[in-house]
Amino acid sequence: MPGEQGKVLIAGGYGQVGRVMAHELSSQFPGQVIVAGRNRTKAEALATEFGNGTQARQIDVFASGMLEKFLDDVCLVIMCLNQGEVSFVRTCLELGIHYIDLSAQYDFQTKVESLDTVAKEHGATALLSVGLTPGLSNLLAAYAKKQFDDLTHLDIFIMLGLGDVHGHAAIAWLVDHLDAEFFVHDGGLPLKVKSFNESRACHFPGISEKRTAFRFNFSDQHVIPETLKIPSVSTWLCFDSSFVTRVISMLARRGIGRLVRLKILRALTINLLSKFRMGSDICTVKVQAHGLINGEQTLREYHVTGHGEAKLTGLVAAEAAKLVMRGGQPKGVFHIEQLVSPGGFIHQLITLDPRFSYDLAGYCNSGPST
Ligand SMILES: NC(=O)c1ccc[n+]([C@@H]2O[C@H](COP(=O)([O-])OP(=O)(O)OC[C@H]3O[C@@H](n4cnc5c(N)ncnc54)[C@H](OP(=O)(O)O)[C@@H]3O)[C@@H](O)[C@H]2O)c1
Repeated sequence: MPGEQGKVLIAGGYGQVGRVMAHELSSQFPGQVIVAGRNRTKAEALATEFGNGTQARQIDVFASGMLEKFLDDVCLVIMCLNQGEVSFVRTCLELGIHYIDLSAQYDFQTKVESLDTVAKEHGATALLSVGLTPGLSNLLAAYAKKQFDDLTHLDIFIMLGLGDVHGHAAIAWLVDHLDAEFFVHDGGLPLKVKSFNESRACHFPGISEKRTAFRFNFSDQHVIPETLKIPSVSTWLCFDSSFVTRVISMLARRGIGRLVRLKILRALTINLLSKFRMGSDICTVKVQAHGLINGEQTLREYHVTGHGEAKLTGLVAAEAAKLVMRGGQPKGVFHIEQLVSPGGFIHQLITLDPRFSYDLAGYCNSGPST
């Protein structure tokens, strides 16, 4: 299989996550990678830094019309920014261009899912839920599903380091969801919940005391019940500082989410948070799975941990891009767990950076999260 011969355009390619991908892919696909964004100078600087024939392209994905001319040599677009609408995605798929998206926004993902027929008709593959959460969380869930005879309940725990450099778009997404109301699947039924209104205590690898993590509206908990048929799924978020997690959860419950919807306060908050550094750059995603194995009620845990959220996210996307570039993937719209074999993918990912590790043995010493 010769694989795809066109170029990989990384939209948002000089952002925190995009640059990790651009670096990884430029050495694998010399002369085929394009770093794209609205700022030509930034794109050119990164392309020059990475070498290997990496190109720069100025593009605004929200500009109306004429996007086709920016895409005529492209076979894969990787989207590293948040979109509300799918007109750009539709353009890509109608041109037969494969598409990878890192969004954690479920309503956006469902809009892309509705383009499944368009993708099939034009011979394109679109891959959603790529990154950490969603992404690795979906893959750990898929791995867990394979170990159980009947997996009934899954909790996904995310810990983010406040000493890490998080991209503007990633922070903006968190700020915009501080007080989100949403439905989770609970025993197969919809249950209305709210970000930060409920918590679970959880052990994270390498940290002795339990941490309290709070509900947050990541898309994985909405997608996994559909793709993996697990009846109860919830996602819980905390930061490496218990103090800051408590303060943010308290502010969220007292309505800070409403305040930061004011344009000027939103910009200020995002700016402040992108400069704020405290603690480590740890980043962990862990799933806790409950169900039946050999007729016995069983609890198992699986995790991936490391340093640098943007690095881990970008490398997941780069591995997904390599898969698409190798060719031979089915056409249509998929979530990562529908195309990728989870154990092999996670193992391969960990080999890319010695600061990452995983545990897929499943043994659970900590008891159920409370
Ligand atoms: N799935 C996961 O686990 C996960 C984890 C982290 C992040 N993410 C997602 O990954 C994406 C990237 O996050 P990040 O942390 O890398 O953000 P970032 O550092 O802010 O990067 C965003 C990039 O997009 C570019 N951009 C913004 N608007 C654009 C437009 N209209 N047209 C073209 N380029 C545009 C920006 O450059 P200019 O402003 O100069 O154009 C910037 O380079 C976000 O969607 C985030 O939600 C997902």
